[in-house]
Amino acid sequence: MMMNDIKTTLRNLSPQEKMTLTSGHDFWSSEPLYPHNIPSFRMSDGPHGLRYQAQAGDHLGLNKSVPSTSFPTASASACTWDLDLLYQMGQGIAKEAQSCQVDMVLGPGVNIKRNPLCGRNFEYFSEDPYLAGQLGASWINGLQDQGIAACLKHFACNNQENDRLLSDSLVDPVALHELYLEAFRIAVEQSQPESIMCAYNKINGTYASDNYYLLTEVLRRQWGFKGAVITDWGALNNKVKAINAGTDLEMPSSQHMFDQAALADLKTGELSAQALDRAARHVITLARQPRPKFEGDRSVLLTQNATLAQKIAENSIVLLKNTAHILPLQPTDKLLVVGEMAQHTRYQGAGSSHINPPAAISIIAGLKSENIQFNYQVGYRFDNQQTTALAAAARQSAQEADKVILVLGLPEVAESEGFDRTSLDLPANQNDLVDQLAQVNPNLIILLVAGAPVTLPWLDQTKGLLNLYLNGENVGKACARILNGQVNPSGKLAETYPIAYKDVPSAQTYDHNTRSVAYEESLYVGYRYYDKANVAVNFPFGFGLSYTTFKLAQLQRDTTHIAPGQQLTLSVALTNTGPIAGQEVVQVYVGADPKAPLTPLTALKAFQKVPLAPGETKTVTFTLPAQAFMQWDPDLEQWRLPKGSRRLYVGTSSRNLPLETVVTLDGATSVRTQALPQWYITPVGYPNATDFELLSGLRAKPMLATPVGAFTAMNTPRELSKGSLPVRQITNLIRHYQTKDLADPKGSEAQFMDKIILDTPLIRLSQQTQGQFSLPMLKRLVALANHNYWRALVGK
Ligand code: BGC
Repeated sequence: MMMNDIKTTLRNLSPQEKMTLTSGHDFWSSEPLYPHNIPSFRMSDGPHGLRYQAQAGDHLGLNKSVPSTSFPTASASACTWDLDLLYQMGQGIAKEAQSCQVDMVLGPGVNIKRNPLCGRNFEYFSEDPYLAGQLGASWINGLQDQGIAACLKHFACNNQENDRLLSDSLVDPVALHELYLEAFRIAVEQSQPESIMCAYNKINGTYASDNYYLLTEVLRRQWGFKGAVITDWGALNNKVKAINAGTDLEMPSSQHMFDQAALADLKTGELSAQALDRAARHVITLARQPRPKFEGDRSVLLTQNATLAQKIAENSIVLLKNTAHILPLQPTDKLLVVGEMAQHTRYQGAGSSHINPPAAISIIAGLKSENIQFNYQVGYRFDNQQTTALAAAARQSAQEADKVILVLGLPEVAESEGFDRTSLDLPANQNDLVDQLAQVNPNLIILLVAGAPVTLPWLDQTKGLLNLYLNGENVGKACARILNGQVNPSGKLAETYPIAYKDVPSAQTYDHNTRSVAYEESLYVGYRYYDKANVAVNFPFGFGLSYTTFKLAQLQRDTTHIAPGQQLTLSVALTNTGPIAGQEVVQVYVGADPKAPLTPLTALKAFQKVPLAPGETKTVTFTLPAQAFMQWDPDLEQWRLPKGSRRLYVGTSSRNLPLETVVTLDGATSVRTQALPQWYITPVGYPNATDFELLSGLRAKPMLATPVGAFTAMNTPRELSKGSLPVRQITNLIRHYQTKDLADPKGSEAQFMDKIILDTPLIRLSQQTQGQFSLPMLKRLVALANHNYWRALVGK
């Protein structure tokens, strides 16, 4: 019925009207065509709460949004390994969206954490695609079951922030499908998001928005995606190519700056009429989708969601070390709390996911709310100044305490959307303070607040270590309840904590040439690398302790063989062998022959979080479809089941897999035939460009500076201003204008803004400024930078 309606509407639309639909109306909404009964629909970020900007819109998280719940960020919520909680988070956010008449929430982000320095890792779930895909799918199902559309992002291979609008991710087909696309595939197949957001970057030479292979061949044909493809904000590259490739809607509005040229191309057939119809159809479908009205009291909803945010935080905090049961705290413990982070606890990341919550509870406030008595010393400041007096005072107080809780973490300026971190280390003054306090008090408990891994040079000096990530508005409360034992920690790492940055397989390439990025390590990312290369890590993927203990036994399987279309059921007995109730995450990994090329030693294929009373045993069952054993065949361009035997491992981290069994795969003998360089068989040390070229046929292009005279609209203000004083002055003016209203014009928001403006190609800036930086202005600026003063004057 609906379909016929849309068909009729499409027949009645002129090409111009169809074209109008394919670009947004303003910063957050689509273009309506009321005479044709096509309303506008409204979008908001995502993904850790609703960032609904009633007034001035921006995609940088700068202008205040309507108060909404700040849920744990993805890097934290992933540590719950709890699909039901992710579903509830989606549900909670959907209701807040309903209450603001928002139709679509821009999230979740399921990109793989390729390198721990990516500034936006706090917004992504995991280094593992199965985990990221499952969590993303649950979040989407929770949101969409309440009638609000999701926009899965950022499709695809958006794994760095520096130069994100100009970078080209060069990825071989096996890594592309088995690692980088896999989380998207799972989320699309299990939750059918109403839309997907294509990334800023190029993939193997083609911008995500122009990428026919990804948007049509893979997403729509192979995975059966039915929804709309929407560009990331300002990510449209070439309107004609984009629509032909599968993009449906350009966001935000570029004031239709490309429409007339695209209509001319429609006449010549360069733009396919069918593709334009498809794009318009998808926009109409979204616009006409009825959305539930919010009934109830928004403040009651915010209170309910605050409780949910706290529950998710309590389930996500990871206990990494607990020597001599230093935790939970005892009521008689004389405590000292140290750290600026205890008082100004970061609970979210900067950028487009920035939420304006009604209230946020710091660690200090959380401890007080749980009636935990303590003394407090600042100890260090975020700005990494040598604060000898503060450290000395903390040291003095530490001598008088039974236990010292030291809260460390990354200051906001260190990690954000828009730029990458420059180091894996915490600020030096924080690391120094650990040394000082450990000298006077052996009972140190460190709480870590950061959106991504950091090095832990003091690991041997602390008895307790709790990892909080950036855990939403109720982080302080959740943390206090774990410290005092009201809650038994059950979070598990969704990514590996390496010992040193040099251990990261992409350490030699990441951020070296930001424009052309060869993913030389292929699928050896995270535990897929550390485990196969046998590199020691601080904490492995899947790891997390509890105040109780568990035992796994009696692994059984219902079949010894598996063929395409079949499935296998595993069962295992899990016992809580300790004195208190707790939850354990049972993890199932499929193994591979250690000598097989381009295969991890093990890969996660199932998991379950199981609550158990003290002494209780439960049988946990898992169903693994044949897909869990399949590999990407780069020649046939499809998933195939290989032939041979595979080990199945069950345990509680990628490095603790006590139970195993074997299954025979009745598949094809020749899934992978290419002879590969040795690094892809035994990945020790770093890969190199020549090997990667043999594997993939791809090689990074050198990053060359554009000479004066050759600047185009694809160059950035930073590049243009190098050789031209007037351009520098204009750029400074734009910068001043954009940052003048910020509370701290030198703070993290200003830095973020700086980066974003200076490193965005001019044409993309023009697309997003709602006509303020128009095409004629852009042309003059480029002419000026090229020292072509006549052109700059006449504007041609
Ligand atoms: C981000 C997206 C976000 C959009 C709208 C972009 O800069 O990459 O994740 O949804 O802005 O704010």
